[in-house]
Amino acid sequence: MKGERHPKNDVTMNPSGNESIRDVIERTDLGRRHFMQTTISASVLAAIGGVNMKSIIGAVEAAPLPAGNGFAGIGFESVPPSLAPVADKVTVPAGYTVEVLASWGDPIMKRAPAWDEDASQDAAAQEKQFGMHNDGMHYFPISSHGIGHGRNPVRGLLCVNHEYTHEEILHGAEGLAGGAGVTIAKVRKSQAGHGISVVEVRKNRGKWQVIGTSPFGRRITGNTRMKISGPAAGHALMQSKKFDIQPTGSVEVGINDGYHCHGTLNNCANGYTPWGTYLTCEENWNGYFGWNSGESVDVADPNRAAILNDQARYGIVAGGFGYRWHEADPRFNAATNPLEPYLFGWVVEIDPFDPESKPVKRTAMGRFKHESAQVAVDGNSRVAFYMGDDERNEYIYKFVAAKRFNRHKRADNRNLLDKGTLYVARFTDMPGAGAETYRGEWIALEPDTTSVIPNGAGGYYKLRELPQFAGADDAEVQALILIKTRQAADAVGATMMDRPEWTALRTYYDPEFSFKGYSVYNDQRPLEIYCTLTNNNRRGGGGSTPATSSNKADGTTTAASARPPVDMANPRPDNDYGHIIRWREDGNVVTATGFEWDIFMLCGDSITAKTLGANYQSGNLVNGAAGTGPYYEGDIVDAPAGSADFGAPDGLWFDQFGRLWIQTDQAGDASGDWVNIGANIMACADPNTKEVRRFLTGPRNCEVTGVTSTPDGKTLFVGVQHPGEDSPASNPTQYSNWPQSQFTVNSAGQPLPNTPGLSRPRSSVLVITKDDGGIIGS
Ligand code: FEO
Ligand code: CA
Ligand code: CA
Repeated sequence: MKGERHPKNDVTMNPSGNESIRDVIERTDLGRRHFMQTTISASVLAAIGGVNMKSIIGAVEAAPLPAGNGFAGIGFESVPPSLAPVADKVTVPAGYTVEVLASWGDPIMKRAPAWDEDASQDAAAQEKQFGMHNDGMHYFPISSHGIGHGRNPVRGLLCVNHEYTHEEILHGAEGLAGGAGVTIAKVRKSQAGHGISVVEVRKNRGKWQVIGTSPFGRRITGNTRMKISGPAAGHALMQSKKFDIQPTGSVEVGINDGYHCHGTLNNCANGYTPWGTYLTCEENWNGYFGWNSGESVDVADPNRAAILNDQARYGIVAGGFGYRWHEADPRFNAATNPLEPYLFGWVVEIDPFDPESKPVKRTAMGRFKHESAQVAVDGNSRVAFYMGDDERNEYIYKFVAAKRFNRHKRADNRNLLDKGTLYVARFTDMPGAGAETYRGEWIALEPDTTSVIPNGAGGYYKLRELPQFAGADDAEVQALILIKTRQAADAVGATMMDRPEWTALRTYYDPEFSFKGYSVYNDQRPLEIYCTLTNNNRRGGGGSTPATSSNKADGTTTAASARPPVDMANPRPDNDYGHIIRWREDGNVVTATGFEWDIFMLCGDSITAKTLGANYQSGNLVNGAAGTGPYYEGDIVDAPAGSADFGAPDGLWFDQFGRLWIQTDQAGDASGDWVNIGANIMACADPNTKEVRRFLTGPRNCEVTGVTSTPDGKTLFVGVQHPGEDSPASNPTQYSNWPQSQFTVNSAGQPLPNTPGLSRPRSSVLVITKDDGGIIGS
């Protein structure tokens, strides 16, 4: 049924007078008359004027999307969706070549052992090898002098996040619970599989390869010693127990000073700075904490109630996510070491060019479940980072550095991220406001900011007046606001979003300008940021409870427990397929406190038969008016309609040619809601017309996440994470044996071991090139 019902690229469609592409375009526009004048691509023009769809399909398929308004065009045709049974391979368009550059377990530094496919290697080996389940990444070119960030398209440092580990694949045939059970050896290996890899990559005689003995090669893990800086550093809540971390256990040796800590975890998406450092973002770090039966935060601790509330607001629970680290490593026991969670949830800055440098947790950028940190530099050399908190009903933030970026002196930017203002977004002009423009505001999370909590005297409390932020002085109030960022955002009435994932800054292709490694904006170039909102099954109710609740202003909502109604920025109940929102800063400066916004794209399955569950709010706000349809079909602009459907947008990135690249994270097995959409994908969109083409399909049960390119745009690095997710230790290849299922060697020509009974799927970084040597996407 799925194959018949879903129009593939190579079949005709619309014999029955269903809506035309023009209709699709019309209903795509969310009434944003003056937001952006869209230019309609040649392929869409061809569909206008009563031309029969069937007759133009050949032309549509061949037509590149033309360049215009800062967009360099798209030259490839959509690859077909990978439907069930999903092929265990990556596909890219004709004219492109995809190879595997680096996989979990590859050696990346001196004295690193080779990958052993039975996964029997220990933590010490994993600490020198490419980590597990890679996610966000960035390519830093190496100049001819070795250091700095020039424009080298054939030699660079690839910084790669390793978000999480799949314990059943990581620990050989035993898995986590088998054999000796949860041991410190397994916990240490798991911790070593997390973090970041700094990998030197080179293109030698046409072949990209990892330099497995590079002096730049580095692993940063869940146990690496780090600094903490910025307003929250040193605060009493940051002074958790100090441990001497040994292979055989964590030995308590006193109290941490609040300026140092160990490790970074759940490094999901990323950022980079224009001064050549890497940012890694701590997302679902709460899941590594837990406690044993009968344990609880010390009842005598005067801060007990506040700590328990903070743990609930960030989703820390006894069982965690099942890693069970706390059973062997007391550092991760949230009952007996309850301040340790305050050391996570930050953005961490890493200098990849200095292997001896300590990573720094930058507390000025707030503490939440950080997805990515997208930099923007405006015409005044002011720098901002746009960031999402990825959980249902959480918020979108920006951090604006107080000082200007010094593009001439790298060292001057060393601590730029320690001083500035953290803002949270409120998307205003909600239903009933009657406004013609969708407006939003950035609310500074500062001691003097007025909350939405009435003070009983006709006004509202300031943040400094609320007990959760009460401090001895402004510095302490600010520290507490940052440590409890979610609660501060609750208190000021930020807009609850449908799981903010990556943010991306629009770039404008201009052949006259050379690429600087970052985009500079002026008032001729709208400063426009996009954000993926991946899904939200608690929007508009759900389960047996219709929509009734919002995050409480006093900060006591348990993580992801609210069930807010739809609003203009999150217009669909049971937002299964997600959407992409975008905003433009007033005056095109990052210091703006107001913005305009619109919804760029409602993702979906254009031929779905799915209907809204009875317990969801029946109305929605698509197109700005209450409607009754389920709208699971979305409004993706593609030609033929339905040819590039997708859902669960996650990774988001503009290349320097104005192309928007979108990566997805859904089940990846083409089952259930994904029967017509198939495997996860990477798509490319024209920000002017919104037209989408599917560039890549992933292997079975994987997520496509992480993307970066060389400065010339001719090599694209793309991440494939958790192929064969959920496979058991007894049968690691039950769902996938990728990349071995597709490749016998990696991009350097080295063999990929594939012994039956030992082999297991490996998260990997792909390298994609165009066969004619051209720019990816052209
Ligand atoms: Fe780790 Fe929000 O994706
Ligand atoms: Ca993600
Ligand atoms: Ca995701």
